[in-house]
Amino acid sequence: MERLTVALADRSYDIVIGDGALVELGRSCREAGLSGRVVVVTNPTVGRLYFQPVHESLAAAGYDVLKIELPDGETYKTVATVNSIYTELIANGCDRGCFLLALGGGVIGDITGFAAATFLRGVSFVQVPTTLLAQVDSSVGGKTGVNHELGKNLIGAFYQPRLVVSDTETLSTLEERDFVSGLAEVVKYAVLFDADFFSFLSENREEILLRRRAPLAHLIRRCCELKAGVVALDERESGIRAVLNYGHTLGHAVETLAGYDRYRHGEAVAIGMARAAVISASYGYATHDDTVRIVALLRTLGLPTELPPFTGEEYSTVLLRDKKVREKGLTFVCNRGIGGYLLEQVSDIPSLLTRGGDGG
Ligand SMILES: NC(=O)c1ccc[n+]([C@@H]2O[C@H](COP(=O)([O-])OP(=O)(O)OC[C@H]3O[C@@H](n4cnc5c(N)ncnc54)[C@H](O)[C@@H]3O)[C@@H](O)[C@H]2O)c1
Repeated sequence: MERLTVALADRSYDIVIGDGALVELGRSCREAGLSGRVVVVTNPTVGRLYFQPVHESLAAAGYDVLKIELPDGETYKTVATVNSIYTELIANGCDRGCFLLALGGGVIGDITGFAAATFLRGVSFVQVPTTLLAQVDSSVGGKTGVNHELGKNLIGAFYQPRLVVSDTETLSTLEERDFVSGLAEVVKYAVLFDADFFSFLSENREEILLRRRAPLAHLIRRCCELKAGVVALDERESGIRAVLNYGHTLGHAVETLAGYDRYRHGEAVAIGMARAAVISASYGYATHDDTVRIVALLRTLGLPTELPPFTGEEYSTVLLRDKKVREKGLTFVCNRGIGGYLLEQVSDIPSLLTRGGDGG
């Protein structure tokens, strides 16, 4: 097992990564100082595969386990679903001594974290991410929340987990589309922070797509290191953490316009990153060759890169929904070459759709 720490003073926590980490889950929770009843929040897809080993490990460590099953899918990442968790917790007599454990992908993690942040003004929670996206990104850093019909992730809280346990073996059961979708956030970390890591992804893409253990373990660790570093510097996104929104401005617009069930989150982010790469080159922050390499990597990994054909007005309406954006313009994350970033203040929002043409 590998162990990294997210250094946040009294809110610091460990990320445990490794094949078979679920077997040690109960012990890892004890080592993190977690006591009381544990409420495992999952969905039928993940629960069917992994609830039993999770339950066994927790019970062996002496925990009393309650299971809450939510419906599967981004469309259920809503306040109504969070309310259903509160109802189960209250009906089962859970008090502040309990802790929640999110067993699933980013959707389960975001919902469970938000429920933990708000139930009885906050109970502890553990992330057990089972998708690539959740292992490399969403389980680390304490952003929790749900969608609103008018926009993505609009309701939420910064609330750090007490522990993250990523069992890389769980990735073997992921559907191809979900696995590939997770690779989008991996490319994001490489483009923003680490040119060598970008080259590693380009050179090893076949092995990665075959889900070979060694490259996967390396990329999960590298992404967690990079994210932990950013979060330690800026927990509440008042500065540098905003760069992790690379590709997300347009990605969220795509998700909002297309409906949350048409694109996987990572697919929408890949589309947003391809456009961000073209825009960055048009400002002179990157070369045409950098853009070609970024778009080519996304495509060869099997990710979409073309904006779906909504009208400019439709995109603008979604992007301008934020009052701050209407008044002050939008802070757009650009890549500086490959392995660097900078923030660009954009007041002409429709230009984001056309600037730099199609990059070709
Ligand atoms: N909090 C953050 O910092 C952050 C960062 C990035 C993304 N996100 C959020 O993450 C969400 C996307 O997460 P996701 O891509 O993990 O989607 P997801 O949670 O919907 O999982 C995708 C699918 O895979 C299934 N699944 C999960 N683990 C499995 C496994 N091991 N084997 C087989 N099937 C499995 C799920 O049931 C689901 O059907 C979005 O809501 C996004 O907003 C949050």
